[in-house]
Amino acid sequence: MTKVAVIVGSLRRESINRQLALALVKLAAPQLDLELVDVSDLPHYNNDLWDSPPASITRLKQAIETADAVLLITPEYNRAPPGLIKDVIDWGSRPWGKNSWKGKPGAIAGATGGKIGTAVAQSQVRSSLIVLDVALMGQPEAYITVTPGLIDASFGVTDETVKKFLQTFLASLADWIGKLTGIVPEEGQPDDM
Ligand code: FNR
Repeated sequence: MTKVAVIVGSLRRESINRQLALALVKLAAPQLDLELVDVSDLPHYNNDLWDSPPASITRLKQAIETADAVLLITPEYNRAPPGLIKDVIDWGSRPWGKNSWKGKPGAIAGATGGKIGTAVAQSQVRSSLIVLDVALMGQPEAYITVTPGLIDASFGVTDETVKKFLQTFLASLADWIGKLTGIVPEEGQPDDM
């Protein structure tokens, strides 16, 4: 099955970006196997740590390298991605000559409670990932407004329009990965279709 490493840029218990990620995990099966990467103990980027890298860094780099594709789900903080996402990008890109992102198919999504949120943050994440040679999907863009109740306790999406959009986003991602890697998506309908 096509494996996608999913990185969420919020550590908050009730994070709406994490809720979106878990809703996508559910909607993506069986076409795509979305696996969340634990980045809760990732330190700020510090070149000195390469002498004896903590497990959090090797775990992140291994998760990116062993996946067929990557999906970054970012909140927007003050019209920028949060520091956690920047640390994820930077740790993945080093040490010099060992850029884990290189050549990976990828996509970006983001959730906010507001109406225009995450477009600026996503654009900045896109700029960094392009330079690191991630082959980013251009369309559809996923700027998701998560209102209370949109994603239920078992990570089902309660609004049909949003659910259909997320299914389209995932189907496009599966096609995009297939085009770049030759991996043909699994037969079968995504969950809840
Ligand atoms: C925000 N929020 C926010 N939202 C947005 O759409 N654009 C923005 O620029 C900002 N700026 C911002 C700064 C800081 C420091 C915080 C804490 C929050 C609101 C943000 O979208 C909201 O808190 C989300 O719930 C954060 O995502 P998680 O943690 O729920 O995944």
